[in-house]
Amino acid sequence: MAASPPAWNRPTDPFAELISAEAIATRVAELGGQITADYAPLAAAADVVVVGVLKGSVIFLADLVRHIAVPVHMDFIGISSYGDATTSSGVVRITQDLSRSIEGKHVIVIEDIVDTGHTVHYLLDNLATRRPASIKLCSLLHKPERSEREVKIDYLGFTIPNKFVVGYGLDVSQQYRNLPFIGYVQGV
Ligand code: IMP
Repeated sequence: MAASPPAWNRPTDPFAELISAEAIATRVAELGGQITADYAPLAAAADVVVVGVLKGSVIFLADLVRHIAVPVHMDFIGISSYGDATTSSGVVRITQDLSRSIEGKHVIVIEDIVDTGHTVHYLLDNLATRRPASIKLCSLLHKPERSEREVKIDYLGFTIPNKFVVGYGLDVSQQYRNLPFIGYVQGV
């Protein structure tokens, strides 16, 4: 029998739970099924590379890849925005690059959240210059009310209201990434 998660990691207090661990698991499995169906025909021709954007996508990516029934390579890219803790300035730099070339590969970029859209817009433009065979975006969350750049999300987990959320990989000041649910601080 699986061990229970530590008690401190379970209560939603002081957060309001926006998306439960169960709802996340269900949706992640569905996304994996969709990606499997789309990439099964392509995987024979070229490698599929799942690119996780550090650090927020790590937990989502770890769960998602186990629902993708196609061979994939995993790689990671580190991005830093010059905005403050809760706003994106649109000025982005790569803090850690991919470990291998993506030329000729089918790339799926995995993001935690598309907020203003600046980060992912920059990243997709940058990766496209490296001549992948194809490039698609998978994001767990989207906050359309904050959108400043048009971004096509090929695989989307959930659309959320304009709240600053934490948990399941997302942080505020590097905290709360290990909450199993997605929540927000009440009153904020
Ligand atoms: P964008 O450039 O405004 O789309 O912001 C993208 C990045 O900001 C995300 O990858 C997150 O790291 C961070 N971010 C945006 N909204 C939230 C949030 O509600 N909670 C935690 N991080 C967020």
